[in-house]
Amino acid sequence: MSRPIVGGKARPSIARPIDLRTATALTDPLSGAMLRAMSSHTAGDPTVDLSVDLSVDLAGLRLANPIMTASGTSGYGPEYAEYLDLTRLGAFVTKAVSPEPRKGNPPPRTVETHGGMLNAIGLANVGLKRFIDEKVPFLAELGIPTIVNVIGHRVEDYQTVCRELDKIECISGLELNVSCPNVDDGLEFGTDPKRLKSLVQAVRSETKRAKLVVKLSPNVTDVAEMAAAAVEGGADVLSAINTLRGMAIHVDTCKPILANRMGGLSGPAIKPVALYMVNRVYTAVARDAGVPIIAMGGISDWRDAVEFLLAGATGLAVGTALFVDPRIPLHICDGLSAYLQSKGMKSVRELIGQLK
Ligand SMILES: Cc1cc2nc3c(=O)[nH]c(=O)nc-3n(C[C@H](O)[C@H](O)[C@H](O)COP(=O)(O)O)c2cc1C
Repeated sequence: MSRPIVGGKARPSIARPIDLRTATALTDPLSGAMLRAMSSHTAGDPTVDLSVDLSVDLAGLRLANPIMTASGTSGYGPEYAEYLDLTRLGAFVTKAVSPEPRKGNPPPRTVETHGGMLNAIGLANVGLKRFIDEKVPFLAELGIPTIVNVIGHRVEDYQTVCRELDKIECISGLELNVSCPNVDDGLEFGTDPKRLKSLVQAVRSETKRAKLVVKLSPNVTDVAEMAAAAVEGGADVLSAINTLRGMAIHVDTCKPILANRMGGLSGPAIKPVALYMVNRVYTAVARDAGVPIIAMGGISDWRDAVEFLLAGATGLAVGTALFVDPRIPLHICDGLSAYLQSKGMKSVRELIGQLK
């Protein structure tokens, strides 16, 4: 397939295959051989145009630019730092943290699909104690805002993690992954507005300092209903979207490819869904409530970034695309600056929500 040409330059291809060795290295906390397979992607430093202001405000949290990592796709920081100067990001978002360590699902837990991938990592993570002892020191030195993704199976799990992390100065935000099944009935917290609101309220009562980000699940009938519940519960920021439920089947064995049978779909394949949902959340809830949105779902280049900003996003998280090229965040910043200049705009904030 030929790659589209923009302004004489080839756009980063969204159809390029994901290197699953890379995906496994980036997503598996137990892997020590992180990212080495990707060194071929690291050539060339972008030239950032300082005359355009890329800074954005996330509920009082200032980011030098809107680009951040999407949770679960770049470990806790050190794994990714080898391939990108993390200080160039607007913020770093960690993989999930739960009260106790979790091994996650058995392999295979990732599979490539058309324009994306399925993952069933199963929220593997080092747990709260090891996160604080071993991971926070690196994040404290980073010098950019850090947002920690939080998971649980009970309301108390979220409360425990958020209460402890709220005490740590270098953690600027807590992002609640509400796509976790509740231990009592197996239903996700983020698919029922009453349950979501009471979860957010319960966490809010335990946190004073860090911004509370609620990450919306796309696996619902109306994402705006969930956004409203999260805002009523006290969310400072909304993020959207998490992965869509999906499946892949091996035609020789006639079995599901993922050991977990199903997984979460991410990457360019979900971008139109994500774009719609971000715009729906923005127009129905976030704009009037004054609550900023962090968008994610297939963001792979500056054009995607512009689309999500127009749709109402303030922050932009890059996930699956990092497995194709870990320096995509820098290319997006460059492309955004050039785009804003070409439009005679001085600040990226002029784009937010300007969809006609
Ligand atoms: C391998 C992998 C692991 C993920 N782990 C988490 C996680 O721990 N917590 C979370 O909230 N989202 C997790 N996500 C979802 C992403 O943060 C993001 O919402 C989603 O992948 C859509 O963005 P993308 O298309 O740019 O990847 C994960 C996604 C992938 C691909």
